[in-house]
Amino acid sequence: MIRIKTADEIDGIRESCRLLSRVLGELREIVVPGIATREIDSFVQSACRKLGARPAFLGYQGYPAAVCVSVNEAVIHGIPGKRKLNEGDIVSIDCGLEHRGFFSDAALTLPVGRVSPEAEKLMRVTRECLERAVEKAVFGARIHDISAAVYRHARDSGFGVVRDYCGHGVGLALHEEPQVPNYVGLGPNPRLREGMVLAVEPMINAGGDEVEVLEDGWTVVTADGRLSAHFEHTIAVFRDRTEVLTSW
Ligand code: MF3
Ligand code: CO
Repeated sequence: MIRIKTADEIDGIRESCRLLSRVLGELREIVVPGIATREIDSFVQSACRKLGARPAFLGYQGYPAAVCVSVNEAVIHGIPGKRKLNEGDIVSIDCGLEHRGFFSDAALTLPVGRVSPEAEKLMRVTRECLERAVEKAVFGARIHDISAAVYRHARDSGFGVVRDYCGHGVGLALHEEPQVPNYVGLGPNPRLREGMVLAVEPMINAGGDEVEVLEDGWTVVTADGRLSAHFEHTIAVFRDRTEVLTSW
């Protein structure tokens, strides 16, 4: 069942998204060569605490941290740890907050110092995939219009599209219906209605589509070891406009 949100609920989700955007906005400055991925996690935990919000991923299905920090060939769900970031890495940071029962979810990929032209292009195209997806996410359109926009732009750019993980409804829980795939498959294709809140999240690979899960049970990596990027926004659909609730 797709939960349609009331105006009051969207106000609460907007506030959760605003707090999340503040946390993510501050991250840019700390992502520099030499920082350990677990320092990103501590930063997020203390920033959340100051804002009176709870990191929504912590404990979710047993996930052990507040953020996912996925480096280079890691696509999503990287667990923060001792690993230090090096000049030339790209790092995807994914975070969700719960504030007064309202959930937000957003992600971005950042360069660590100077990165290769391939990494630059991958990050740019993945961001553009998200922009194009949001443009299609209007009242009366369908989920697959979002999926097709992501897929087409990634493929036209010569990149792979992760199929094993999807965007999703969000707002009153971290994951709600409907699924928002980044490719057009045979799954449900509901029409977008006023009051729908979605997390749209292209996960795009420099090489092939295939991914694997590491021994830690969480970290999703590209099967061919090439780079991956991930950008995500929480958006709300209204009759006359679609509002992007998160920012970086
Ligand atoms: N960020 C993921 C999403 O966008 C959810 C993370 S799952 C967790 O749907 F377990 F890592 F929290
Ligand atoms: Co998400």
